[in-house]
Formats: sequence, C-alpha cells, structure tokens
Amino acid sequence: QRNEYKAQYNILDEAAIFYQDQLKTHAHRDQAVAYLKSRGLTGQIAKIFGVGYAPPGWDNLLKKIGGTPTNLELLEKSGMLIRHEEKDSLYDRFRERIIFPIRDMRGRVIAFGGRVLGDDKPKYLNSPETDTFHKSRELYGLYEARKLSQKLERIIIVEGYMDVISLAQFGITYAVATLGTATTTQHLERLFKTVPEIIFCFDGDNAGRKAAERALETTLPVIKDGQEARFLFLPEGEDPDTLVRSESKQGFEKHLDEALPLSEFFFRSLAEDTDMTTMDGQARFSNKALPLIHQMQTSLLQQMMLDRICKVTGLSLEQINSTINLTQSTPE
Ligand code: GTP
Ligand code: MN
Ligand code: MN
Ligand code: MN
Ligand code: MN
Repeated sequence: QRNEYKAQYNILDEAAIFYQDQLKTHAHRDQAVAYLKSRGLTGQIAKIFGVGYAPPGWDNLLKKIGGTPTNLELLEKSGMLIRHEEKDSLYDRFRERIIFPIRDMRGRVIAFGGRVLGDDKPKYLNSPETDTFHKSRELYGLYEARKLSQKLERIIIVEGYMDVISLAQFGITYAVATLGTATTTQHLERLFKTVPEIIFCFDGDNAGRKAAERALETTLPVIKDGQEARFLFLPEGEDPDTLVRSESKQGFEKHLDEALPLSEFFFRSLAEDTDMTTMDGQARFSNKALPLIHQMQTSLLQQMMLDRICKVTGLSLEQINSTINLTQSTPE
C-alpha cells in the first residue's frame, strides 16, 4: 500500500512539472503570463510556488502522462482525470486555468488548485479529497513558509492562494491558506506545533467576518497557555493580496501588530447587539459566553476571561461555577 501512494506522489509531481512546462512553452502561454503579470506576480515568486498553466483542451494531461493503464488509474485516483460515465472515458479535470500545486509538509505535491484567467465561474477548482489529500488537515503554503523563513515565529491564516503568494512576494513569507474549508482543529494543532502565534486574516467582507467568528469558536477549545491567536480585520473590500500591494511589507506588518487578541475579539463579538448596561443584556451575554469558556483548556487565559465576565456582569465566580460546572471542563 505504501508503494501505491508513492506512485501517486510521483505522478502528481509529474503533473506539476507538466503544468509548469506549459506555462513556459504552450502556444497560448502568453494569455497565462499576461494574467499573472496583471496580478502583479513576478516570475521568481511564481517559480517558488511552482505556479503552472493547464492549457485549453480535454486531454492534455491525459495524453502526456496517461500513457499506460497504471498511470490512468493513478491519475483518476488522484482526481486529475474525471471519468465520463456515459462515454466511459476519462478527461482532464484542470483545463484553461492557472495552476497552484498544493504540497504537504514534506514538500510532496498532493493536489492542485486552478484559477480561471478571467471572471468565469467557478473561479477556483480544487482537487477532490483523495487518499493522500485531506482538506481538513492540509494548509496551502506551509511547506513554502517553512522553507522561506529562517525561523517561523508566527503564521498568518488567509483565505486564498493569491493571498499567500502575494504576501510572500512582498516579504511576508509566513502565510498559509485553508483549502476551501473552514479552519479545523487539526489545522490549528498542526500550526501551534510549528509556531506559538497564529493571526487570522480573512477578507474584508461578510464571508470573511463570518469565517473569523467560526475560527474563534474553533480556536477556543484548542489554545493553551504560551500560545496566542489574534484576528486582523481588513478594510471593507480588501483581501491580504490587495492590501499588501497597496501598503507593502511594512504597512501590512503594522496591521498585523495591531491585530485583535482572541479575548478582545471574543468579548467584542459576543457583546455585539447586546446592551451590556442592562441586566438582561448581561445575562444574554453570559449565556453565550460561558459555554464557550467552558470548552477552553484549563489555563490562565480561561481564568482571566472568567474574571472579565465577573467584572462586566457583576456575577461572582461562585455564581458562575454553580451555573456551569467548570471543574468538569475536560482537558484535551
Ligand atoms: P482572486 O480573485 O484570485 O484574488 O481570488 P481570492 O482568493 O481573493 O478569492 P476569494 O476571496 O473569492 O476566495 C478565497 C479562496 O476560496 C480561494 O483562494 C479558493 O481557495 C476558494 N474559492 C473561491 N472561489 C471558489 C470557487 O468558485 N470554488 C472553489 N472550490 N473554491 C473557491
Ligand atoms: Mn472572499
Ligand atoms: Mn483576492
Ligand atoms: Mn479574497
Ligand atoms: Mn492601512
């Protein structure tokens, strides 16, 4: 079974090389190069991230690499070829797209993302889940971040491929992106094994703000003393890619340094739309806050957040403990 995976890694690596070659040699490469230029990417950064081009057509990869039954099977298994059920034939998943290879922590190509060159829909296409690609575990750019940074001290979680690459181009070489899923516990545990500080930096739009609230709820049960999570909210309409382009490394890092600590975001977001000057508002707030704090690891941060609830509500710790039995909070 080990061998089977090895062959799968090899063929994905071949595919990555094929797409990179196409960006250099294909008759339509000009369109792809022009698109990348219009996004402001340098050739150097494109090369570091292995950016490629899947040309138009249904069977480019198929013809180039699918020469044997074994290879066809591997390509289908890894999601690179799709089976047309009625015709019982195979065709390329990625067509006429900019290609972003997704690597695991060891640098092996495990999947791809592909972006259209214009405004067509769907804008992005990703490899499906496979035996070797689990979206809930993998983070785009983590391998590159470790390679590009002498020592990682913090990691930024962003939404997209282009955010990771643009930030790196401007010298912020410590961003990673989730792959079209919400941030999971597994993502966070992996990142906190690498660095003590994580900064969430989602797009300045409603979806981004929703994602931040979900990330808060996922982080609370995970975070331990000695670890820090913060949230950077971008101006409306900006994403990390556009912001670093307009403000450069220094400007962006200034925003990072001012990112909201987890506890601040917690109290701010739970008190939103609640009148904290009334008893009813305070009760409403406590009813939302306490179950979340209950899920936290036993930690100084948990204690301090409880203290703060006491301050803003006038409840005593005893009253809180009798409502929600904190001694039963399970570490894990
Ligand atoms: P650009 O227009 O290239 O700057 O994209 P973006 O990364 O800013 O796009 P957006 O903020 O809309 O999306 C963030 C991330 O969500 C992308 O990088 C993709 O991983 C994912 N995503 C966006 N659109 C789609 C889509 O249509 N399908 C899928 N599967 N994923 C998408
Ligand atoms: Mn968005
Ligand atoms: Mn963008
Ligand atoms: Mn975006
Ligand atoms: Mn600014």
